[in-house]
Amino acid sequence: MSQSGWTLKALPEMTDEQFSLWRELLEARTGIYVTEQRKSFLQSSLMQRMREVACDNYQEYYERIVHDPMGNIEWAKLVDRLTVQETRFYRDPAAFEYVSKYIHAHKAKFDKKNPLDIWSVGCSSGEEVYSLAVLAHEILEDDNKQDCFLVTGTDISVPVLNKARQGSFSQRRLVTLPEFYQQKYFIQDDSEQYQVIPEIKKHTCFAQVNILQLDKVAKTTRHIIYCQNVLIYFRHWRRQEILNHLVDRLAPGGLLLIGMGEMLDWQHPDVTPVKGEQITAFIKRV
Ligand SMILES: C[S@@+](CC[C@H](N)C(=O)[O-])C[C@H]1O[C@@H](n2cnc3c(N)ncnc32)[C@H](O)[C@@H]1O
Repeated sequence: MSQSGWTLKALPEMTDEQFSLWRELLEARTGIYVTEQRKSFLQSSLMQRMREVACDNYQEYYERIVHDPMGNIEWAKLVDRLTVQETRFYRDPAAFEYVSKYIHAHKAKFDKKNPLDIWSVGCSSGEEVYSLAVLAHEILEDDNKQDCFLVTGTDISVPVLNKARQGSFSQRRLVTLPEFYQQKYFIQDDSEQYQVIPEIKKHTCFAQVNILQLDKVAKTTRHIIYCQNVLIYFRHWRRQEILNHLVDRLAPGGLLLIGMGEMLDWQHPDVTPVKGEQITAFIKRV
């Protein structure tokens, strides 16, 4: 059948067994738990990729991913389809407001030897990383410390990280960013895209990290760990494990900020919850 024939052909509904198999594989490799309600998302994402590789059988494609020697290469492409990558600049204004307060309160201690070190976990296409970088630059610039920060973005998906590294966004993507920041920190290129300026880009870096494997990540001492809209796809016990690992990678006095309500009843002896704000955050004890 021709390539175009494949793109038009409707794939059959997944059976319950096929759904279980794929769901288990996704959870084992990424931590993402697909509920029954989200079965259609799993199915349509799989179908999209299966059409591209001209496969119309869920079982056959599963075998290819799990047992074929090239399976890992195909998995890297598939995982990009199976994850929700929705993001935007300044997605959660209350959280950014709090980060701003935190940087203001601690900025005296940051310098070139001890730069403000921020980690965006599950950063998707980079909007979160650049929002944090712009915010840090804006605050530290007042004290002539605009070179004393770095923001690292990590994600499981290599394609989305490549996009993030480019730092190039359409005007539509910038609308949630205050106008002043758009003008100061982005330049329009020939193709109507807006590029993050080099002064910001040079303070950012991106790397592939699967948050199921945080034990392999060095116990760095980040000042801010920002992990929003990621834990929501994981089961409760896994969220706890991930948060425990993140606390181990936070500097004393550091800030851990997660999505509002993403973990309501978690406690850890090394952190104190932030109270009285419209955010879910914790400060590591000194
Ligand atoms: C909905 S986006 C959130 C993006 C950003 N944090 C925000 O709030 O706008 C979720 C991101 O988590 C990433 N992700 C999902 N599972 C992951 C895992 N096991 N390890 C690392 N990143 C993962 C996805 O690839 C996706 O980019």
